[in-house]
Amino acid sequence: MTDRAQSASLTPLPLAGRRAVITGAGRGIGAEIARRFVDEGATVAIIDIIEPETHDVGGSIGAKVALADLRDPVATRRATQQAIDELGGIDILVNNAGVLRFSALLDITIEDWDLTFDVNVRAMLLTTQVAAAAMIAQGHGGTIINMASMGGKVGSPNQAHYAASKAAVIGLTRVTAMELGPHQITANCICPGYVLTEMGAATRTPEMLANWSAKSPLNRLAQPSDVANMAVFLASDQASYCTGQALNVTGGMVMH
Ligand SMILES: NC(=O)c1ccc[n+]([C@@H]2O[C@H](COP(=O)([O-])OP(=O)(O)OC[C@H]3O[C@@H](n4cnc5c(N)ncnc54)[C@H](O)[C@@H]3O)[C@@H](O)[C@H]2O)c1
Repeated sequence: MTDRAQSASLTPLPLAGRRAVITGAGRGIGAEIARRFVDEGATVAIIDIIEPETHDVGGSIGAKVALADLRDPVATRRATQQAIDELGGIDILVNNAGVLRFSALLDITIEDWDLTFDVNVRAMLLTTQVAAAAMIAQGHGGTIINMASMGGKVGSPNQAHYAASKAAVIGLTRVTAMELGPHQITANCICPGYVLTEMGAATRTPEMLANWSAKSPLNRLAQPSDVANMAVFLASDQASYCTGQALNVTGGMVMH
């Protein structure tokens, strides 16, 4: 073994000893982040609504599970506190759960608007309130990672409610960073491009996939692992002086 390889093998895992609560981790990007966090040394609790998927993910990686419908504020607060209690504290909160409904601007219903904002934004505020209070009480900082989208920067036709909610996530993240910074809590959001998950899968055609891929200088769409890589970085000490940012994981489709 070379000196460099030997010292790498002695380096502690980047998330060793950290306790992470991750929402929307019953499948897709959230499940991949949960798996990676465990691989990188964290202990993890996941919050989601879908069953049996959520318990399957939890069981496969040894994560705690708290079931909740994030549209329900009482259930959201309760599940977040339950997850923190089961972990014995919290160092990392990943607000990943989200919904996407397609509709032309003129046809968006109140129900779909409220669903989108309740899950994508309001639940994020509620989990953050519970988690930040625990982090402040612990007294050694923490980090919050919110899942936004390139839709929150550039938007997309038939997704006005989704784009507006993700722009709100970026705004919420910035103020979270400002208010919690004095407690050494960082807050950043990730803006993925097109990620190959269940979200939107029902309406995807091979032609759409080819067109979207061509928008990236890398000429491919994202895998959940591409987003999980950024989440691991943001949760690690490597990102200790990074806060209030909206970081693109778009394969270069968006460059601002
Ligand atoms: N897939 C993409 O192309 C893409 C692009 C940009 C951003 N994102 C964002 O990444 C995040 C994860 O998306 P994904 O692609 O893995 O989607 P997904 O639909 O596969 O996963 C979303 C998860 O959130 C959970 N969830 C939804 N509503 C909930 C509720 N009311 N209560 C509890 N849990 C609920 C779902 O059960 C699911 O496990 C979302 O915030 C999404 O907006 C996705």
